[in-house]
Amino acid sequence: MSLLLSRTNFGDVANKGNTLSRAEAETLFNEWVLNPRLQLHMKQVAYLMQNWAKEKEGLNDADQWRWEMAGLLHDADWDQWPQLHCKKIIEELEQRNVDPEIIHAIASHGPNHFGVEPETKMDKMLFTFDELSGLIHAYSLMRPGGYDGMELKGVRKRLKEKSFAANVSREEINDACNRAGITQDELINFIISKQPDAK
Ligand SMILES: [Fe+2]
Repeated sequence: MSLLLSRTNFGDVANKGNTLSRAEAETLFNEWVLNPRLQLHMKQVAYLMQNWAKEKEGLNDADQWRWEMAGLLHDADWDQWPQLHCKKIIEELEQRNVDPEIIHAIASHGPNHFGVEPETKMDKMLFTFDELSGLIHAYSLMRPGGYDGMELKGVRKRLKEKSFAANVSREEINDACNRAGITQDELINFIISKQPDAK
């Protein structure tokens, strides 16, 4: 099954800055994503994107929401239409005249699967958080205190242990961090510090 998108242009530049409202995005999220584990993952990535945009990029509220929305909807079609991932959500957002940067971020969140290279900082951070937060969340589930008291060295150990969360590709994590130009340690510390529990 190929998920290659076979195109590199998404959305319409005339829609720059357009977003769904939070209520619209949440309605789409709740209708499309039924699996609670996937819901949690998408909310965690959204939370990390919003916090990174605010704290590290110094972006305003409107831009923070654009980053958050990309995170919130990046896997929206994975649950019910895995063979159409992420073509279906891209087409939905294009029809709804959403900012092309948000659509491009979703289209490039798995360059090895979709064949679209992350270009902007938003693209690169979505790819990075998607990969790394999955592994850190798996680690939190095996710790009695969850995220509480989690340390960088523990995460680094799990990263080296190939059998742990074996479905999370270490190569993709390295690739994502390199593309973002941020050290793995800084990213791990940021994710731990946010303790992205279910909200
Ligand atoms: Fe994801």
